[in-house]
Amino acid sequence: MTMPRVAVIGAGTMGHGIAELFAIAGYEVHLTDILQEILDKALKSIEESLKKVKERGLLKEDVSAVLSRIKPFVNDVCGAVGGVELVVEAVVEDIEVKKRVFAEADRCAPPEAVLATNTSSLPITEIAEAVRPDRRPKVVGMHFFNPPVLMPLVEIVKGKYTNDETVKKVVDYTKKLGKEPVVVNKDVPGFIVNRILARLNDSACWLVARGLATPETVDAVAMYKVGLPMGVFLLLDFVGIDVACFVAEAMRKRGFGGGSCPVIAEKCQQKKYGVKAGEGFYKYPAPGKFTRPNIPKELSDKLDPVALFAPAVNEAAYLLRDGVATREDIDKAVKLGLNWPKGPLELADEMGIDTVVKALEEWTSMGFKELAPDPLLLQLAKEGKLGRKTGEGFYKYAKSVVIAVTETLEKLYGEPIKQLESLITATGVPVYRDPRSGALLWVDVREMRLRFTLSVNKLEKFVEGLQRGRLMYTQCRRCGAKYFPPQVDCPRCKTSDVEWRETSTEGELITWTVINVKPASFSHHGDYVVGIVKMPDGFNVTAWIDADPKALKPGMKVRLVVDRRLGENYITYWFKPA
Ligand code: 3HC
Repeated sequence: MTMPRVAVIGAGTMGHGIAELFAIAGYEVHLTDILQEILDKALKSIEESLKKVKERGLLKEDVSAVLSRIKPFVNDVCGAVGGVELVVEAVVEDIEVKKRVFAEADRCAPPEAVLATNTSSLPITEIAEAVRPDRRPKVVGMHFFNPPVLMPLVEIVKGKYTNDETVKKVVDYTKKLGKEPVVVNKDVPGFIVNRILARLNDSACWLVARGLATPETVDAVAMYKVGLPMGVFLLLDFVGIDVACFVAEAMRKRGFGGGSCPVIAEKCQQKKYGVKAGEGFYKYPAPGKFTRPNIPKELSDKLDPVALFAPAVNEAAYLLRDGVATREDIDKAVKLGLNWPKGPLELADEMGIDTVVKALEEWTSMGFKELAPDPLLLQLAKEGKLGRKTGEGFYKYAKSVVIAVTETLEKLYGEPIKQLESLITATGVPVYRDPRSGALLWVDVREMRLRFTLSVNKLEKFVEGLQRGRLMYTQCRRCGAKYFPPQVDCPRCKTSDVEWRETSTEGELITWTVINVKPASFSHHGDYVVGIVKMPDGFNVTAWIDADPKALKPGMKVRLVVDRRLGENYITYWFKPA
């Protein structure tokens, strides 16, 4: 059986990573570039990367077996594309060079072969016009993220001529590489991810240029407040500031407003391109050697994340309104292409649509006309759809469920129970204070669990007590009061002179209720049973019941079990009828 063949044209940062991916997936890869040295360097980088993949246990074959499937072709596009089913072009971001490569590939590749470009910013349609009319439907964007071997996303971009069959084929190739495809319906400059990233780069850059932040502050906010894997400036260094400038310039030429911030442009002029040059916004031990710079966490309090992220959110709103992709695909693309913990639309809902609009108005008032709030954001704000806090923004948060949960908990406790608004915003889920123990209690709508914590900030000791896998309580040495779940400080006399003890794990069921969790925005939904158990030690304990509600009767004996997933900052108790 002959191996399926693909060609990768261009063996630079992206090209060699793409070739590696296809080789891992079992393809014979024809890799071509203009110089022997470039190909040698690429093969060496691929080998190093494959060794890391192997070390992590993600490669079944030997490194040499994978490597042997990559065949170098020096300055020979025509030779490389012979007999292949797919060509992926990853040459320099220059439309004329790309057009020449496509014309050559079209001339020599089999007539059924798909020609894909890994361009970040150039028009797929214009590239397609370099090939013969009958090939144009087979020209498509296949945009990988750096480093391709680690980043899970591939944007599949339709040009004017691209047909559905080609899109389907490239979706299949992407899946065979173990990557996630997102189809971009319109050939807009920068597609989804680079447009959103460009806005973030721009806002970060202008905050620095205007003396409102330092690169370290911006990066600390991005990493420690919003949870990005790399800060904005660190990522620029990692990807290459020259690449970022090139992409921004190409997008600007195609009418994408903004860019031209001097702080990034200066680095380009000074050739301080980042990791590859040994220096960019940070310094590295040697050119090409990446080590993470020290970015102090304390700096993250010095800048409002909304000011930094509002322009990226605005861009996402535009992409949604313009039909470039669905709401889910926009968020998915950013989460997988940049490894953000949340997509920009999810972030907007969390920050509050009104807060985002206000931040954008501030940007606009400083002269950044391109950052005027998108009509979609304004419409949401006008309709009072402000995100999580109102139960609806870009997504629905099933406010009705929150109300239903409140009502059922009130029934259970027999007294009014208050949602803690500030914590709802912080954690994104309904949080209540257990009137009996003072513990925080929150409904995890994704997992349908009722969870407990003491205080978001005072968990360590609590978890330490539970690590022994038993139910612990605390007794104050001064006043003798007992608390379950344990309290770090005695709530009555405010002393931390508390003793940790083990409570009995059996009790009697006092009352229970069924909470129906049906959040509109998640696919999981269902019922679960929450109850209150009276422990012989004198505690009333709230937990969820691992039993059919029909089998439950007040007074029945129950056993309390601790969920041992203690790496996380919450705990779940459930009880089983004894
Ligand atoms: N090949 C194989 N394995 C590699 C590797 C490579 N090239 N580089 C790193 N690894 C491995 C490491 O050995 C490490 O393995 P271990 O966990 O067993 O020790 C693991 O991957 C994680 O690496 P690190 O611990 O060094 O670093 P991180 O945890 O920070 O992860 C990262 C690295 C995945 C790159 C993460 O920092 C990240 O997601 N950063 C954001 C990257 C990003 O946003 N890329 C997109 C840029 S935009 C773009 O590309 C578009 C273009 O058009 C401009």
